Amino acid sequence: MNAEIVLLPGDGIGPGVIDQAERVLAAVADQYAHNFSLSRELIGGIAIDKLGVALPGQTLEACLASDAVLLGAVGGPKWDDPSAAVRPEQGLLSIRAEMGLFANLRPIAVFPQLADASPLRPELMTGVDILFVRELTGGIYFGEQKQAPHTSGHIAHSTMTYTTGEIERIVRVAADAARLRRGHLTSVDKANVLEVSRLWRRTAAAVVGSEYPDLDYDVVLVDAMAMHLISRPSSFDVVVTGNLFGDILTDLGSMMTGSLGMLPSASLGDSGPGLFEPIHGSAPDIAGQDVANPLATILAAAMLLRHGLGLELEATAVEAAVSTVLDHGLRTADIASGDEPIVGTAAMASAVLEAL
Ligand code: IPM
Ligand code: MG
Repeated sequence: MNAEIVLLPGDGIGPGVIDQAERVLAAVADQYAHNFSLSRELIGGIAIDKLGVALPGQTLEACLASDAVLLGAVGGPKWDDPSAAVRPEQGLLSIRAEMGLFANLRPIAVFPQLADASPLRPELMTGVDILFVRELTGGIYFGEQKQAPHTSGHIAHSTMTYTTGEIERIVRVAADAARLRRGHLTSVDKANVLEVSRLWRRTAAAVVGSEYPDLDYDVVLVDAMAMHLISRPSSFDVVVTGNLFGDILTDLGSMMTGSLGMLPSASLGDSGPGLFEPIHGSAPDIAGQDVANPLATILAAAMLLRHGLGLELEATAVEAAVSTVLDHGLRTADIASGDEPIVGTAAMASAVLEAL
């Protein structure tokens, strides 16, 4: 297959982990006789430094014209001034909106080899395999925001909005995924307080009731969900929720596996290229030191192969190679539990290449 893949290294450890994922993609192309053409564009802080904007027009054009996009991470203390006119995170929010990437898939599965790395007791972690489906282009992230003077100083508004159509399409993505997994779908909202959640709950129930009656479906309030994720994480299969709740719950969920350094995500639209990235951020404190864990980005590349290019066999091969290096005891610092020798970013990726 011929495929155009745009790499967006971004900031901090982003470039380092993208370099390693690029090696893996090149090896897959070689081994399975594909022709991947890989190009690099600017996003985030580095784009602000070079061009004054977090998402340059050329980057967006290249991404829209591509078959899939692989992103490293954006942001860092250098651009963190809350009053700054442009922030790296805007690059991420804009690219999600401009590419219509409304569905964010965040799988949280435990690697049995890393059971010790989880802060939760191992017996709680057995069998944890959750797919979060987070709505990504609506909700409070994209609702109207403003600040105005107030008798006490200022008043600020951030508005959470969802339309029936936005809820229906994300619920369908989640329900389709549940059918291919264990057939259990959980919708998370705050319908005891928020009007927007009452529409969410009614709409989700209608979609599941009429189109997916075969699914085992339940609804959970977001605060209770935070509790259940810690007390009985293995009881969930696919979890669908809005933008803000999904942001918070997936950080919570990701820590169950012990390290953000292991988790990939995919952001997909109706059609057109998807965007694939590690869940972790730019970790500026360890940037450029060859210590970051490249596995989340390598696993994001596997999701790119599967969901972006339809290459299931190749995706599975990359995931199996990651599992093999863990079996062999290779650990980057973030997933080390003590006895194993610690390897750096490039050495970890080299081991994956070898296993491949
Ligand atoms: C994420 C991140 C982003 C978000 C930030 C960097 C804007 O936390 O992808 O979860 O809040 O969506
Ligand atoms: Mg987040």
